[in-house]
Amino acid sequence: MHDTEDEAMRTNDGTATTTDQHVAPPEAWDRIAAGYDRFVAPGEEPIARAALGLAGLRPGDRFLDVAAGPGGLSLPAARLGAEVLATDWSPAMIERFEARVREEGLPNAEGRVMDAHALDVEDGTFDVTGSQFGVMLVPDQPLALREMVRVTRPGGRVLLIAYGSPAEFQALQVFIAALQAVDPGFEGLPDDPPPLEFQVADPEVLRRRLTDAGLGDVTVDTTHEERLEIGSGQQLWDWMLGSNPIAGDIVGDLPPEQQAGMRQVLNQMLRRRSPGTGPAVLTAPLNIGVGTKTS
Ligand SMILES: C[S@@+](CC[C@H](N)C(=O)[O-])C[C@H]1O[C@@H](n2cnc3c(N)ncnc32)[C@H](O)[C@@H]1O
Repeated sequence: MHDTEDEAMRTNDGTATTTDQHVAPPEAWDRIAAGYDRFVAPGEEPIARAALGLAGLRPGDRFLDVAAGPGGLSLPAARLGAEVLATDWSPAMIERFEARVREEGLPNAEGRVMDAHALDVEDGTFDVTGSQFGVMLVPDQPLALREMVRVTRPGGRVLLIAYGSPAEFQALQVFIAALQAVDPGFEGLPDDPPPLEFQVADPEVLRRRLTDAGLGDVTVDTTHEERLEIGSGQQLWDWMLGSNPIAGDIVGDLPPEQQAGMRQVLNQMLRRRSPGTGPAVLTAPLNIGVGTKTS
């Protein structure tokens, strides 16, 4: 994901980053939009509902979802009765969001294609601005957070949901172990700097970034977790390849028989983890940050 250590630099909050970390372009997200919508999005709903509660979203509030995908936060917010604008730089993700809005007949929910680093939205427009697993992974996160603060009204809240430590992200660790079983040369994830997906895995770094973006009363909740019920190697494979283009980039180079071998290893690993005949439960820690725009 990055080539040499000397390309690493430190941000003013002390975290390492590089100028050439892997950033999947919008077309890569377009390609996985169907898989994301089908395999990943349904399991995220309880997290989204809890997070919107922490941000104090109420019926009638104006809500902006940044890097919304097919509507991780937007759909629960619209069902609650908020006026929703869902934005994402992937047109395919926004099309999926709009299809769900039509299916459910949700009023006051609109989607627009937009880069999180340059929101095409007036200052001070929204009561709550949120991003679930979206601004978590953008390359200039401080800029994207300042944009979220800019478009929020004074007294409004900004919400960011991100993964905690990759070492405790069980689905990811099982997937890497299975990959290493069929391809012992795979070295695992880099850790200094880690992939952009984990740039705020440390709750203190998330707290500082929200504060540096101009927010007050910042809280970072670490009590929630993602909980996946996975019944087969194929299901974990679909979840991983649907969740982020990087997974497909990594295993896409394996010949088909090695990919099939990896799914068999996943089956064995999941069977060892599940208590009886039911699915294995794989958890991941979350950091849910909320701050208030003070002026
Ligand atoms: C892991 S998905 C999260 C989707 C959604 N927020 C959810 O809760 O399920 C990451 C999303 O971020 C979007 N994304 C990544 N970089 C972006 C950027 N610079 N601007 C806007 N969207 C971006 C991707 O297209 C993708 O839909």
